[in-house]
Amino acid sequence: MILLDSLISPKCRSSYLKVPESIKMILRLGLYQIISMDRVPASAAVSESVELAKRYGHKGTAGMVNAILRRFSEEREELIKRLNSWNEQDIQQIATHTSHPEWLVKRYVEEFGLEKAVSILKANNEPPPQSFRVRDWAKLEAEVSSGRLSIEKSLYNKDGVVVGGSFQKNIEKFKYDGDIVPQDQSSLIAASLATGATGVVLELCCGRGNKSEAILKNIDNNAFIVNADLSISKLRQIREMKSNRLNPICLDAVKPFPFIDIFQFIFLDAPCSNLGTIRRHPEIRYRKSEGKITEMADIQLQLLTNAAGYLAKGGRMLYAVCSVEREETVEVVEKFLSVHPGYRSLDIGSTRPDLVEGGLTDCGNLRILPGNYGMDGFFASLIQKKE
Ligand SMILES: C[S@@+](CC[C@H](N)C(=O)[O-])C[C@H]1O[C@@H](n2cnc3c(N)ncnc32)[C@H](O)[C@@H]1O
Repeated sequence: MILLDSLISPKCRSSYLKVPESIKMILRLGLYQIISMDRVPASAAVSESVELAKRYGHKGTAGMVNAILRRFSEEREELIKRLNSWNEQDIQQIATHTSHPEWLVKRYVEEFGLEKAVSILKANNEPPPQSFRVRDWAKLEAEVSSGRLSIEKSLYNKDGVVVGGSFQKNIEKFKYDGDIVPQDQSSLIAASLATGATGVVLELCCGRGNKSEAILKNIDNNAFIVNADLSISKLRQIREMKSNRLNPICLDAVKPFPFIDIFQFIFLDAPCSNLGTIRRHPEIRYRKSEGKITEMADIQLQLLTNAAGYLAKGGRMLYAVCSVEREETVEVVEKFLSVHPGYRSLDIGSTRPDLVEGGLTDCGNLRILPGNYGMDGFFASLIQKKE
């Protein structure tokens, strides 16, 4: 959108800001078809856009759409050439050509360096793989043997698969029957960090329970989970899973809980900016601001601090967010540990040595940059209450 707007706006006689949103959409759609879709003739893109502009605007706006898009269709070859050669060292050009707001580009360049920043921003524009957690391997494997499905088993999760290419439509039936559940592989890694947890596990901010079953598969067979979230409608879906080892409860996780400090494991999947999931939710980049990141970081610190009080001695807590922003990740954990000497950080590399190359920070936190290992961006830190 940012790239398309940067091309359209200079062609408008009056201010582009004043163009109604519906007409901007029509111009963007038209231009996108002209420069990025080989099978749509530019003339068809122009005339269809003009028809839309008549329907959603008036004669004047239709004339404007016609004039602007015709110019683009005349300059098409030249324009495409220009778009293919941009300067990957220049912040403004990176922002325009990867269609990210400049503040986000600057942030990533400062945090990860130019090369890694550009690779994250490009990965954000790639279609995400169809990633799943498998519930019924037998059914899935029968389909694979019959040649109707091709799956790629995840190297990082025993129940993870990626389905690609032309087989994607064959997967719908399995999704519908609940044999597989859409889930990014990075969140399955987080669930694997609960391995061996015993007794009562508290899953905070569990939402619809997307990770609950995955956590359940990793914890001790006799352990059970108390799944807590603020949203009662999301919790209903956990009840529908009909497992007597999942126990949904509605609570506000920044307020005192109706429990004592008995939990051997707490899984806190905190609300966050979600900036690690841009490829699945491309619009996030246009909606978030830097202020939102710091606002979320304050809430995350409150959640972490409150939850830590309910750990049993020696108990562990996983703090997780689908973001790689410093304020929401390492800074939350550092701030907590700096004023709570009764807790320590554990090295995730000792449980997941397979992630040492590229999946962990120097301090042993899990940090998957968007696109790394083909996964969404994710952060998790393991904290233990000292004995
Ligand atoms: C990142 S989502 C996690 C969703 C879920 N774990 C999943 O895997 O899909 C954050 C969740 O936190 C919940 N939440 C936000 N603020 C909360 C609070 N103060 N107390 C409890 N839950 C909260 C939201 O309802 C949302 O379901």
